Amino acid sequence: MEKIVALCKRRGFIFQSSEIYGGINGFWDYGPLGAELKKNIRDYWWNEMVRGRDDVVGIETSIIMHPKVWEASGHVGGFTDPMVDCKSSKQRFRADEIYFSPVIVDGKVVGYVSMLESERTTEDLQEKAEAFKRKKAIQGKLEPVRPRDFTQATPEEIPLVPSPATGEPGSLTPARNFNMMFETHVGALREESEKAYLRPETAQGMFADFKAVLDTGRVKIPFGIAQIGKSFRNEITPRNFTFRSREFEQMEMEFFISDDDDWAKWHRYWIDWCRNWLLSVGLPASHITEYNHPKEKLAFYSKGTTDLMFRYPFGVQELWGIAARGCYDLSQHAKFSGQSLEYFDEEKKRKYVPHVIEPAVGVDRIALAILCTAYQEETTTDEKGQTETRVVMRFAPRIAPVKVAVFPLLRNKPVLIEKAREVFKLLQPHFTTEWDDRGNIGKRYRYQDEQGTPWCATIDFDTLGEKGPELKDTVTLRDRDTMKQERVRIADLVPLISQKLRG
Ligand code: GAP
Repeated sequence: MEKIVALCKRRGFIFQSSEIYGGINGFWDYGPLGAELKKNIRDYWWNEMVRGRDDVVGIETSIIMHPKVWEASGHVGGFTDPMVDCKSSKQRFRADEIYFSPVIVDGKVVGYVSMLESERTTEDLQEKAEAFKRKKAIQGKLEPVRPRDFTQATPEEIPLVPSPATGEPGSLTPARNFNMMFETHVGALREESEKAYLRPETAQGMFADFKAVLDTGRVKIPFGIAQIGKSFRNEITPRNFTFRSREFEQMEMEFFISDDDDWAKWHRYWIDWCRNWLLSVGLPASHITEYNHPKEKLAFYSKGTTDLMFRYPFGVQELWGIAARGCYDLSQHAKFSGQSLEYFDEEKKRKYVPHVIEPAVGVDRIALAILCTAYQEETTTDEKGQTETRVVMRFAPRIAPVKVAVFPLLRNKPVLIEKAREVFKLLQPHFTTEWDDRGNIGKRYRYQDEQGTPWCATIDFDTLGEKGPELKDTVTLRDRDTMKQERVRIADLVPLISQKLRG
């Protein structure tokens, strides 16, 4: 993961926000390549989800909405995470991320061990228990650890559990609920009546605008409303690079179906759609799994939630949630706003509150999954038998920040520069194109490989016709993945690259 983070900074994918002031935890900036990568993700999702379908429309709603929206949605009352403070280190943790276990020797509890959740929580706690027993020189048979998260600690256990920050017991506070919504004030007076929130999800914009979209007369059940936009959550422990941030971007779609439709069929349909979309941006099938939330952990109104999980370098984590939410959200907004949010079904000749299936994903989590998948190190051998390590970002071409780089063979030959500029100007309106005339061609290839550019076009003396008319007005097109070079007519470049991008 460190290598990916370093490359992201070095090559301008992702920077820490306000880095010159020491940064701010949980906030990230996207550099020139990162901004292109994210734009490609957003555009591709929008094209597939909205423009490419006749049953989904797109909207853009405001980040700050009427505060009652968040009362109706349940966020004011219940959008909380359990928080624990360590009084010694002044660090703050999510209680459900602290795992602890009693150390039991010959059936007797002799102490406690703890750690932050990891891929190897049970194994690491067992090692800690063994180390604890050794350090205290306790004789007897150590039992296997029994990991629980800190929300399950009894009042008697809380002072005995070591803080993950200091390793010492006695400094952790009991878990208490912390609302993750960022508050702000609208207008000049800082009074309670003007309190507002930065939205913690984009979804409520779709519910609040359901009637307005319906009234445009463009939609008929089953149909979806989609949007892409920023969301804000005051996460207690932002971590794993951009994976859990305090400001992030969501792509959500609310798909409304009739109250007697087969919700499970639609739920499956959208799980499969999302999975296929992830495959089409280059994520490997082997890294994507499904997690069905257990029935007993679902909210009372929820019919089922399935998360598409992705194997990140730091563990298998939620990427895309697909929830069947019944008619809860629209019913709540009808109740709180006093407006009817019923739909009159012409075919069924009756009114009902539509049910909803909600695929919700974070752009930043997709970008991170793509960056982690794309990063590869390869050993290459040149003609002289010399080996070197090639770092290559194998982005799916449709997502790659730069599609094609144009090189004049030499930077000090005006005829070559002039011809290369011509090629550059030809490609630029069609693809994200980069000009590079620094160093030698080998170095330029390495540089483009590191930023994942699928193709490089080199303009050389053959292009000028110096070796005969058959190669005149052709360039060398080099493929990032195969490293093979082919001679392509300048006039064929746009159709050829367009075709490769579609493929
Ligand atoms: N409207 C439903 C909703 O917002 P969620 O599971 O809380 O559900 C949906 O969020 C998606 O948004 C997640 O699957 C994840 O991809 C992304 N997401 C949520 N919190 C995030 C955070 N703190 N940082 C980055 N992405 C986040």
